[in-house]
Amino acid sequence: MNASEGGEPGPAPGSGSASGSGPGPADVVGVVGAGTMGAGIAQVFAAAGHPVVVVDVAREALARAAAAVGKSLARFVKKGAVSEVEAAAARERIAYRTEIDALAPAGLVVEAIVEDEAAKRALFARLDATCAAGTILASNTSSISITRLAAATRRAPRVVGMHFMNPVPVMTLVEVIRGEDTADATVAALREACARLGKTAVEVQDYPGFVSNRVLMPMLNEAFFCVFEGVARPDAVDQVMRLGMSHPLGPLALADLIGLDVCLSILEVLGRDLGDPKYRPCPLLKRMVAAGHLGKKTGRGFYRYGPEGERVE
Ligand code: CAA
Repeated sequence: MNASEGGEPGPAPGSGSASGSGPGPADVVGVVGAGTMGAGIAQVFAAAGHPVVVVDVAREALARAAAAVGKSLARFVKKGAVSEVEAAAARERIAYRTEIDALAPAGLVVEAIVEDEAAKRALFARLDATCAAGTILASNTSSISITRLAAATRRAPRVVGMHFMNPVPVMTLVEVIRGEDTADATVAALREACARLGKTAVEVQDYPGFVSNRVLMPMLNEAFFCVFEGVARPDAVDQVMRLGMSHPLGPLALADLIGLDVCLSILEVLGRDLGDPKYRPCPLLKRMVAAGHLGKKTGRGFYRYGPEGERVE
């Protein structure tokens, strides 16, 4: 790990964005939040050749992110998709820091902190003050309004949604969300950035849950209700969807992967912002989140997981 004491990333402050055209192929990319998504996002940018600065207030989170990046790259090496040398170079391109100021050189910053609007707005205001005027500020939010995040800055044309899917190194979609004032040039820059990552950008408008979670979460919620109402056990619900509908993961295993707290917060946003009771979160989901059973990341959700995230029950 290039821990917070690691080397300074290359280009001069704001160099990538001075033209306002977004990050170039060699420009520094910042990632705020070193959770599962932040680690994956850092990894894919580093693998594509960008120097990356990951910022999180918690040193332990940075250490976990570095370990996750190493583990994921090792899987690509094992199957021959990436050489040892390329994997090592990608790891070395990532610096892990605790100070927001370390993001000053970035041409693009992707925020991937907790799904809490107040926390995100405060962070966007801080990033606006820290980063060069041309830097694009993107949010990996799964449901919070990009327009409202942009309103916390003085650069709404350069604020955009960049919604990666979990696991980031594997899933090829990036939902690009256009806020009310997002500029065409910002969307175009993100499209180019996604292409460099080998991912497909799909543009959607700023509306609760965008497309991915507006469609996915009601399905997951119905799966929670199936368990809550005793229709079937979790593994039976998942088998129905895997074998009957060819889903790679059943809905309950997928919810465990996403995080049950994340599912709950998205359902709450959908219910509140669309004003339709059909999005009401299943009481079982609320109970599990209250108990701290958040899925794979806590070792317990609809299933149990070992220290390596493997299913043990
Ligand atoms: N890093 C690198 N490689 C990984 C990886 C990781 N983190 N996770 C899985 N892989 C690779 C494996 O090495 C394996 O590669 P090969 O097939 O080439 O050998 C491949 O992916 C499949 O992995 P597994 O055999 O371990 O398990 P699997 O067949 O069940 O696949 C999966 C895992 C790719 C996650 C698959 O189950 C899947 O596609 N699930 C659906 C995921 C999904 O729907 N994600 C979106 C969630 S919604 C979201 O993220 C947005 C939101 O806002 C909530």
